[in-house]
Amino acid sequence: MARKSVRKKKTAKKKSAKRRPAKKPGRKKAAKKKSGRKKAAKRRPAKKSVRKKAAKKNAGKKRVARAPVQHADAEDQAKQQRQISVSEFFAKNSHLLGFDNPSKALLTTVKEGVDNSLDACEEAGILPDIGVEIEQLEESRFRIAIQDNGPGIVRAQVPKIFGRLLYGSKFHRLRQSRGQQGIGISAAGMYGLLTTGRPVRITTRTGRNKDAHRFQLIIDTQKNEPRVSVDRVVKWPIHHGTRVEIELKANYRGGQHSVDSYIRQISLANPHAKITYTPPDSSEKIDFPRVSKELPPPTQEVKPHPYGVELGVLMQMLRDTKARNVKTCLSGDFARVSARTAEEICKLADVSPTRRPREARRSEAEKLHKAIQKTKIMNPSADCIAPIGETLILRALKAEVEADFYASVTRRPAVYRGNPFLIEVGLAYGGDMGIEAPISLFRYANRVPLQYQQGACAITKAAIATDWRSYQLQQPRGALPVGPALVMVHMASVWVPFTSESKEAIAHYPEIVKEIRLGLQECGRRVATHIRKGRRAADEAKKRAYIEQYIPQVALGLEHILGLNEKQRNKIVKNLSGVLEKSRKL
Ligand SMILES: Nc1ncnc2c1ncn2[C@@H]1O[C@H](COP(=O)(O)OP(=O)(O)O)[C@@H](O)[C@H]1O
Ligand SMILES: [Mg+2]
Repeated sequence: MARKSVRKKKTAKKKSAKRRPAKKPGRKKAAKKKSGRKKAAKRRPAKKSVRKKAAKKNAGKKRVARAPVQHADAEDQAKQQRQISVSEFFAKNSHLLGFDNPSKALLTTVKEGVDNSLDACEEAGILPDIGVEIEQLEESRFRIAIQDNGPGIVRAQVPKIFGRLLYGSKFHRLRQSRGQQGIGISAAGMYGLLTTGRPVRITTRTGRNKDAHRFQLIIDTQKNEPRVSVDRVVKWPIHHGTRVEIELKANYRGGQHSVDSYIRQISLANPHAKITYTPPDSSEKIDFPRVSKELPPPTQEVKPHPYGVELGVLMQMLRDTKARNVKTCLSGDFARVSARTAEEICKLADVSPTRRPREARRSEAEKLHKAIQKTKIMNPSADCIAPIGETLILRALKAEVEADFYASVTRRPAVYRGNPFLIEVGLAYGGDMGIEAPISLFRYANRVPLQYQQGACAITKAAIATDWRSYQLQQPRGALPVGPALVMVHMASVWVPFTSESKEAIAHYPEIVKEIRLGLQECGRRVATHIRKGRRAADEAKKRAYIEQYIPQVALGLEHILGLNEKQRNKIVKNLSGVLEKSRKL
């Protein structure tokens, strides 16, 4: 079949060559191509002859018997079977963590460091003051340093945090933070080790009266354990904070996916942070000043909401609970389940409320699981989410872009799979933003900009699905609108459903897409009013200018017709101008 189709293509090419007599130089080229094809055609059968020759050559020789294939039985296979270390896995699959190319590796490393600094500062109630330095050592070798004024890290924890994957403080809790999995900064260090062989360098201090510690360490990928080469006390002028330095193979590029763009976007969504950035091509620091001295509201840790829980998780919870009976387990370990609601669930499931949770059978757990879905339970509370807020979004947008019009919307919290979340939208319109280009769409999850996989993200899906034409913007079919606008969308949640470990796009949960669309529509309506008003004013000015132009001629005409003097003519000019002005104001 394949061959047939190749042949067909060839004849097609010949036909088209016949149809279009090429120009002279073109003909030459075509001739070359043809001859090339002929050569190739000659070469192919030559292969067969080579094979024949080789067969003749070998005919005289003795055929060497192939070694019998050694099949591995269960015992042999058992010898090969062993635990895979998580760091070994991610070292092989570093693309899963956002290290699939050198420029992305640079961005991911900066991002992981800055995320941690912001998280640590906010948890400690400190206004973040973060320094990002990128130094180019060779063509494709860089040293990145991220320094913060956070609470610092306790000495004993440093090796585990930086020398072990899946080690962190945020995975086991339901609370809004930038990091989740406990693989961010350690993965960046591991990538640095893989590509340059250099260890991660950490300097940290937890208070004015405490020593500053300097560490140099690597991850032993086979064991997923740290190997420390330097651990000493150093002098450090910073009273509290952490500095992480990683050397890695990378590439520094401008554009939408660049570190420069990331720093600009992160400062936009974190107006309480001061960021000082030193790019590799300049020794000068770029300051992104603090726009607000308000820290984001402290978020509460929440228990899982029963609506989102899977059967397996429920069974595990019943096994691990400290509660004495099923009723207190349900009301104590879940959010929004009162003693009465717990009783209701038990009744519906036909499971005794006094049953010991650990003794509950699988069938009972299943009945409880079904009963939970049928019972009316309050939505999760919103105090676990920290929105940026409409005022701060406006202030940040104004600091970022010069536009004619700004709008912002913070929606009420909603729920997907039992997880509370909230959508915010900011919009800047006009100014010197490009008229012909698609709008700039800035996507954020828990205040972290998402720069890759725009097409795969729920935010993009919602933005494309919104009918921007009814909001006075042009929009090609199935694409983002075109016009001088910057739109930022922020999703804040205790658990952001990323489409992959590298945290680049938000999954398309219908509840999330719907909330984003409603936020965009709200901003769309406001910008439409502004655009219409502007158009009306422009139309009116045009009309007025046109009429104004002919007022002296009208007065002259009247002077002739009615035999007026100059004074009367001037009065007519004045009156007509006055009437025009009045009608504009009406
Ligand atoms: N700059 C920092 N200051 C204080 N603590 C930090 C800092 N960086 C990392 N940590 C701690 O190290 C843990 C692991 O970080 P990381 O590997 O990035 O995973 P994650 O951020 O997903 O938890 C964090 O959970 C936090 O407790
Ligand atoms: Mg992190």
